[in-house]
Amino acid sequence: MKPIILTHGGAGRPTPDAPDSTGAREEAIKVCLAACEAGAGALRNGVADAALEAAIAAAIVLEDDPRFNAGTGANLRLDGSLELDASVATGDGRFAAVACLRATKNPVLVARELLRTPHVMLCGEGATRFARQRGFAEASMVTEKALKRWKAARERLATGNLRPYEQKWKEMQFHGTIGAVARARDGTFAVTCSTGGTSMMLPGRIGDTPIWGAGVFAGEHGAVCSTGHGELCIKRMAAWRVYQRIAKGEHPQAAAQAEVDDFPEPYEVGFIAVSKDAHGIAATGGYMPAAAVEAG
Ligand code: GLY
Repeated sequence: MKPIILTHGGAGRPTPDAPDSTGAREEAIKVCLAACEAGAGALRNGVADAALEAAIAAAIVLEDDPRFNAGTGANLRLDGSLELDASVATGDGRFAAVACLRATKNPVLVARELLRTPHVMLCGEGATRFARQRGFAEASMVTEKALKRWKAARERLATGNLRPYEQKWKEMQFHGTIGAVARARDGTFAVTCSTGGTSMMLPGRIGDTPIWGAGVFAGEHGAVCSTGHGELCIKRMAAWRVYQRIAKGEHPQAAAQAEVDDFPEPYEVGFIAVSKDAHGIAATGGYMPAAAVEAG
């Protein structure tokens, strides 16, 4: 099979009304492409577990880029704390996730480490302790930009000057979750996903990213990564829905677009998906930086 890797930098970003949204979008797509290239190495070299290694290598590039809401630069919670969610999954049934992980540079690596244990998910204090025990150093991922976003979110909350998406709480605009899906030459699939959550959230809030079937799904027919309104992705089991369509023979593009079209307004969602012989990228309004690289 033809190896391929896809990455995304979060549904709804950059918003069309953002200053220089075209430039920001081009920049974000460039980073997605660089992340694909980082993962494509594993696919080309045919390393063991190539799809998983590729999806992890791509996710690390995006987690380390402070412009994305994952790893370094992730959003802060309303109390100023920073908690991270991430997951990894493969088409042969492996899945592991961490939620509300604190002060750790690459949450996807901690999720991968968890694959070596009997558990599929750790959260909060337990996840953070596990990371330290397995040698992941304590690190601060708080950036000036994230602090600015946090202050702005608090200000909007205090003044009631909320965006349309914020009317319930009220805002779900600052996505920028990252993710990758890969298909290796041997026909195996993998997916990784990582996020700092949304722009307004309580400490302890968990979104779709670490939830099997919501943020990620992989099986014998392909792999899917979701991004967008985490609560709705969980309730709709968004990644699973897209996968089910692929399993029934739909093209991944059509499968992803169908779930985008069905997603209730005004909430945003986006997907990257691969099947045995095709791939797809779809997001609400098309606002999602993403890239795909064939590796062979
Ligand atoms: N989709 C990321 C989140 O809601 O946490």
